[in-house]
Amino acid sequence: MRGYCSRIGRRYGFWSRLRMFLLFIVGLYIAIPFLVKICPAIQTQLVFLNLVRFPYFIDLKRPEDQGLNHTCNFYLQPEEDVSIGVWHTIPAVLWKEAQGKHLEWYEEVLSTNYPVILYLHGNAGTRGGDHRVQLYKVLSSMGYHVISFDYRGWGDSVGSPSESGMTYDALHAFDWIKARSGDNPVYIWGHSLGTGVATNLVRRLCERETPPGALILESPFTNIREEAKSHPFSVIYRYFPGFDWFFLDPITASGIKFANDDNVKYISCPLLILHAEDDPVIPFHLGKKLYNIAAPARSLRDFKVQFIPFHKDLGYRHKYIYRSPELRQILRDFLGNTEQQ
Ligand SMILES: *[C@@H]1O[C@H](CO)[C@@H](O)[C@H](O)[C@H]1NC(C)=O
Repeated sequence: MRGYCSRIGRRYGFWSRLRMFLLFIVGLYIAIPFLVKICPAIQTQLVFLNLVRFPYFIDLKRPEDQGLNHTCNFYLQPEEDVSIGVWHTIPAVLWKEAQGKHLEWYEEVLSTNYPVILYLHGNAGTRGGDHRVQLYKVLSSMGYHVISFDYRGWGDSVGSPSESGMTYDALHAFDWIKARSGDNPVYIWGHSLGTGVATNLVRRLCERETPPGALILESPFTNIREEAKSHPFSVIYRYFPGFDWFFLDPITASGIKFANDDNVKYISCPLLILHAEDDPVIPFHLGKKLYNIAAPARSLRDFKVQFIPFHKDLGYRHKYIYRSPELRQILRDFLGNTEQQ
């Protein structure tokens, strides 16, 4: 008899605890949108993820630890109270010459006969992130200089993140390169959130009539609202009533647009878009949509606009396009032509 009673007691305890737990989950599910609405900084942080520094134990002053024996680290100051950490990787053919050289040597080498790529990374992590480093190696082995930096608020760069600040940092880095690179072409490469910085930058460069040699967008989106809506984080709220008001309006209210779809209409330089079909972070259809907006744009009428999809079976997802054995040929064809123009 006693055993029977206590069994019921235990079962009752289990069900009531389960009910409490489910109520808690439902309560949390409903509370989060209100929390986000009241405190837009949460959404801003989710867009930038600059505090997520993974991998945590990289010494950004020592690019050689990442297998980059021909890279120097230095700092630029786009504005008072803002400092950005920069890596300059030289073309791999020069790696032996680079041993033991100082910053002045690296700067001088920018004017010798190699094109330069300014790389604008995506959210989270730093310029030392592995998929980024692997891409620098590919580009460097093809004979490009790669300049990569952390926007204010990322890595060891000082300042607080904002879309206009990131764009300004990119403009500052571009001008720094241009002042040293002579007649060598300078290309802009944006990845993920960095594509938003890249089109902001190139739009500005075109407006002041100093367009880059080309713009390359890897895994781009159309604008931050459409991206946030498709992001895996949003999936569980996609059908929540007032989703846009709760989750997207706070982003817009914080001044974050990253309007690639609008910017491409004001860009006049060759444009290459790379996107993997199995990208789980920025869906493939957003990259395709951006291409469909860019291709007929009047500003791009006289320029090559190309879209390269990567089949889902290749498994390149959001950040592994650098693994494609075809990437070299794609870039050579695309940039080779622009260099001749
Ligand atoms: C230095 O880097 C270059 C280019 O990535 C590579 O070919 C070379 O083997 C590296 N040398 C050493 C000693 O690690």
